[in-house]
Amino acid sequence: MNLEQYQKFTAETRERRIAWWRDARFGMFIHYGIYSCYGRGEWIRMREGISREEYLNTANTQFNYKSGNAEEWVNLAKKAGMRYAILTTVHHDGFALWDSKTNKYNSVNYGPHIDIVREFVDACRKHGIRVGLYFSLVNWDHEDGGIACIEDMAARERYLTFVDNCMRELMTEYGKIDILWYDGPSPLRNAEEWRSIERNLMIRSLQPDILINDRSLVEEDFRNCEDNLVFGPLVGDWEACLRFSHTAFGGVDHPATLPFKDNAHDIVKSMTVCQYGGGNLVYNIAPNADGSIDPYEKETLETVGKWMARHAEAVYGPTKRGGCGANGISTSAQRGNKVYLYNWIWGGTFARINGYKNAPKSVRCLTNGENVDFRYENGVLYFNNLPEKSPDDILNFAVFEMDFGDEEPIYNLVPANMIQFMNI
Ligand code: GLC
Repeated sequence: MNLEQYQKFTAETRERRIAWWRDARFGMFIHYGIYSCYGRGEWIRMREGISREEYLNTANTQFNYKSGNAEEWVNLAKKAGMRYAILTTVHHDGFALWDSKTNKYNSVNYGPHIDIVREFVDACRKHGIRVGLYFSLVNWDHEDGGIACIEDMAARERYLTFVDNCMRELMTEYGKIDILWYDGPSPLRNAEEWRSIERNLMIRSLQPDILINDRSLVEEDFRNCEDNLVFGPLVGDWEACLRFSHTAFGGVDHPATLPFKDNAHDIVKSMTVCQYGGGNLVYNIAPNADGSIDPYEKETLETVGKWMARHAEAVYGPTKRGGCGANGISTSAQRGNKVYLYNWIWGGTFARINGYKNAPKSVRCLTNGENVDFRYENGVLYFNNLPEKSPDDILNFAVFEMDFGDEEPIYNLVPANMIQFMNI
């Protein structure tokens, strides 16, 4: 099958497969592996030149995952209002978290002697969280996974067969998988070299409902971006991934990072920034070597979850790309003929909003459930008699719903529809 035929084939079922994901909006990323023992990020094995022997010794002495930890991660995802979770089944270091027959460097043979992927998948199903498996195409451990496989065709064949076999295990042994989240890809340079279409076809034959991201160098069901949230990719479905420390997904355990970690307000803000570009957000946790969750990450995500529960009506469900804007104190997202204004700095009792050619039929503050006294005059919308303080006592992050009834909101400025408090 060539690229064109493959894309036609995946497009035929995409709307059906991706509907839940467009609704879900918010997921958890979990970076966990031997690197968690060092607390200096998931690239440590390569950056510090750690030998396989030393790395496996670390696994055996310090990688102390305990049965039930995955359920704690999944529980936290649920509490945070996340609808899916993605676990690093194998990162660039090449150490697998499942009972692999293909890759003997795994968490059943070393360290905790537990199939962590199994526990994770079971916990997700038990708690109604969709299952995502992260898989790194980059592999620093496999003899043939490095630059050897660029020129040496026999090495390439061995490495790709290894990848295919790993994938077959993950796709057949763990029931229904909702997302395959590829990472990489290096050292090979394109989808042809990676044999991505062949492999992804095999995966789709085993998991007909699966969603696949774009990191096997084929445009698949959604794209990923890291950190750069403002608009996301300009077309199609996309997802941003963010991390607490802004340093490494695998976590940096140093007190010096604490003041710079995201707080609950930052996370909700990022989520709403993704909303206005029509994208999803997956937010990362980096469990400790013993599988426990960092108390700061736990508490912060629980606070996010309280806010999400209060504003569920605004958060879940697809939003339309474009038209909406942000102005440093608020952003907005459109779903159908409703626009949600997310206000993250409250400025008192009166606000004005420019940018609409038509007036909403009603305005409601979702945070306290009250209708807003508003007026539309000469293209400007005025909100009057607002409370002095933000009605959101969780994060000072109030949400207004502007309902345009059976009319589409029409913008005359882009970016438009930002809330502007007059005394800020
Ligand atoms: C990059 C990093 C990797 C991380 C991933 C998450 O590819 O190399 O460490 O897991 O981003 O998106």
